[in-house]
This record gives sequence, C-alpha cells and structure tokens, in this order.
Amino acid sequence: MAAKIIDGKAIAEEMRQEIADQASQLKLEVGLAPGLAAVLVGEDPASATYVRMKRRACEKVGIESFGHELPADASQEEVEELVRELGEDPKVHGILVQLPLPDHIDEESVLNTVPLEKDVDGFHPVNIGRLTMKNREPLFIPCTPHGVIELLEQAGAKFEGAEAVVLGRSNIVGLPVAMLLLHRNCTTTICHSRTKDLPAVTSEADILIAAVGQPEMVKADWVKPGAYVIDVGTNRVDDVSAKRGYRLTGDVDFDEVKEVAGALSPSPGGVGPMTITMLLQNTLRSAQRALL
Ligand code: GUN
Repeated sequence: MAAKIIDGKAIAEEMRQEIADQASQLKLEVGLAPGLAAVLVGEDPASATYVRMKRRACEKVGIESFGHELPADASQEEVEELVRELGEDPKVHGILVQLPLPDHIDEESVLNTVPLEKDVDGFHPVNIGRLTMKNREPLFIPCTPHGVIELLEQAGAKFEGAEAVVLGRSNIVGLPVAMLLLHRNCTTTICHSRTKDLPAVTSEADILIAAVGQPEMVKADWVKPGAYVIDVGTNRVDDVSAKRGYRLTGDVDFDEVKEVAGALSPSPGGVGPMTITMLLQNTLRSAQRALL
C-alpha cells in the first residue's frame, strides 16, 4: 500500500498563519514587531539562498528581518563584535548565525556570544547541553530537528517505545533529533558512515530519519513496512533536462520507499518549509517573552 505523504508545505503554511496573527497582535499591544537578525559570513551560495528564504519568510508573517553580511575573511573579533551588538539591540529578538562559518572562524566561540534568550536557532552550547540532558529545558530547540518532530506528531506517529533510527550524526540535525526522539521514549539508534550494515539497522525502524546528504540512498528494502520516514536530505544532482542543470533530491528514494512506508515526508517539500517555520515561531516566542 502506498504511504501517506506528509505535506510539510501545508503544515508549515497553517503554522505560519497562526504566527502572523500572533505577530500582528503583539505589534498592536506593544507597538513593536518581533525582529530577527541574520548574520551571513562569506559568499557560500547555498547559505546566501537559505538566509534570503528565511528573511523573506519573516517579512511575510510580520517579523522584521535585519540582514548583516560580512566578508569571507572577516576576523573572529569582527563576527563576535557584530553578534554582541545585535545581542544588545532591543529591536532584535532572535539572532541567526548562518552555518557553516568559514574555516578560520571558531564556531563555538561565536555561538557562545549569542545571548541565550535570543538563541532562536538553539545552537548556543548551553541550549544544546540542556537539550541533551534529561529534565533540562533548553530555551529554544534547533529548527530542523524541531520541524521533524512536529511533522511526526501531526502525522500521528507514536513515540512511546518505538524503534527510532537516525541516519546521520550532524550537530545541526542528526544529533539533536536523536535527543528529541529519546526524550519522547523512543529506543533511539544513531547510524553513521562507520555503521556496519545500514539496511539491517534501518529496516527495524518504526521511525526513520534520513539526514546524511546522500542522494536517494534509502531504498525500499531499508524500510520496515508501515514505518514513518522523514527525509531531511537536500542534495543537488546533475540533470541535463532541468533548466538549472541540476535538480534537488532527498536522501530517500521516494518512488521506491512510498510503496513500503506507512507515512513519508518527501524532500523537497517536507522538512525544508518546517525548518523556517520553527525559526519564525522561536522568534515570535522570544519577542513575546521579552515584550509581554
Ligand atoms: N545551516 C544549515 N542549517 C542551518 C540552520 O538551521 N541554522 C543555521 N544557522 N545554519 C544552518
């Protein structure tokens, strides 16, 4: 039987409507819109595109967005000074430092400079530390992992006692999403490049999260019949028939896996819109906490 397709775009759209309503309510009450500052260091085209998409999404829901661009050879001190200034700006309720930063920049030191209460990406070492521990509440949860959980919840996944397998151990997705699944009482396994027999592990999963950056790696026989599968991957593959010369595809072979999974979130069109939505939601909440 074909999987139910989890429509991330539609879920994100509904949540953004609610965020827009609350942002306009806040502006009416206190005369100030929520504000997000986006910091981009260097000229990586993918990062520039992501920042543009985030800023456009802010504007659509009535969140003011402040763009700050530094050259690729900006110094550690210049980046941290900018983040410190934004930390003190009362119009800024959230600070987003687009990752990855250039190699010569110490990422952890920059993220440490973001005030905890403006850490809408949830990457501050203290927020990540709290996220990994039992019964400690981070102020913000990283946006992509949070979006994954929201999709699973809205699709009706049962977490308690479920076997959850996460493919990938990145700081931005794999690791934090594994923690969120663990806190929801899943038996959680993290797979990575040294895992010996990936299909043997993934095919036991009731919930499978693919976040490895390998185009269409997850095949039908990697998936347990009826499983909830969330595809986080966004990979560029050459395609001469496409106008741009490439197309975007996920880590999951959609055509194969849709015949086996119980529910499937595709990529593109699944987690991507949710990541931005969670960022908008975190920024709104930060503004509400600061202003109400
Ligand atoms: N790079 C890739 N994903 C993200 C994200 O969610 N936030 C930031 N700041 N950088 C990223």
